[in-house]
Amino acid sequence: MAATEATDSTHQLSSVTGPAAEIARAAGAMLRGHFESGVATEYKGDVDLVTVADRASEKYIVEQLQKAFPEHGIFGEEGARFGLDREYRWYVDPLDGTTNFAHGFPVFCVSMGLERRAPGLAADADGEMVAAVIYDPMRDELFTAEAGKGAVLNGRKMHVSKNKRLAESLVATGFPSQKRHASPNIHFYQQFTLRSHGVRRAGSAALDLAYVATGRIDAFWEFKLNPWDTAAGVLLVREAGGLVTHMDGGGFTLDSREVLATNGLIQEEMVALFKAMFAGEGLSPIPTPAEFAAMRAAGK
Ligand code: IPD
Ligand code: CA
Ligand code: CA
Repeated sequence: MAATEATDSTHQLSSVTGPAAEIARAAGAMLRGHFESGVATEYKGDVDLVTVADRASEKYIVEQLQKAFPEHGIFGEEGARFGLDREYRWYVDPLDGTTNFAHGFPVFCVSMGLERRAPGLAADADGEMVAAVIYDPMRDELFTAEAGKGAVLNGRKMHVSKNKRLAESLVATGFPSQKRHASPNIHFYQQFTLRSHGVRRAGSAALDLAYVATGRIDAFWEFKLNPWDTAAGVLLVREAGGLVTHMDGGGFTLDSREVLATNGLIQEEMVALFKAMFAGEGLSPIPTPAEFAAMRAAGK
């Protein structure tokens, strides 16, 4: 069951999430405008899309972040690299869900996560995620979190679901746009489909993580995401009481090539299932279309 509390409807945003949320809302409004008027699409890779909206949104977010937080660095998907030696660094996905966006499928968002990197931290080490803002302009939903202060959806505190069993859970995943043939995720998709209420594949990893935080889904996993996809959503999930790890239960870092986010209660069950599947155990065979046609013809 989705879980937000009606009690804190006046939750105040802080001096960091307040201005960041305004920037995300304005960038989201810009995306919505492009979405409604239609956009030209280009290819970054063989099936990796980018639109003018991705670039316009990043340009706007970078300009506004530099005004609001001139002392912060910025690492953006569409190429922004600014002040990366600074104590604070924003990870920006100016449009998460570009494939949806380009096809007119209304599931996409703006994602901005702020990391604090203690002075002297090694370049390849993670700092601490301190603030997160994800904005879905099609539903006017603003998800925010700050370290130690909980996670909030449109002013209402949110927390992860209370489902204790995978069999009663709704889960989500995604597939990388590049090198899809090299991903085993379709096997995991099949196995979790057989063992849960279903697997959603909505096409925005940042919203998938935000939905774990709200309790709308009980878990999310994906391979090959980037820091701009996960930085904000990971803090949302943790601040909403969930867990974010690797699929073996080990520690997640921003450059992890895999993520498992759960409500905490189905974590062990999912990790055990991933372990068994990685070892090739208990995988149900999938009938070929020809076998399926023969079964149908035989009335089975
Ligand atoms: C993508 C989305 C998608 C996920 C892909 C990401 P983009 O981000 O988050 O859900 O499956 O792996 O690359 O390219 O739309 O920002
Ligand atoms: Ca993304
Ligand atoms: Ca993007």
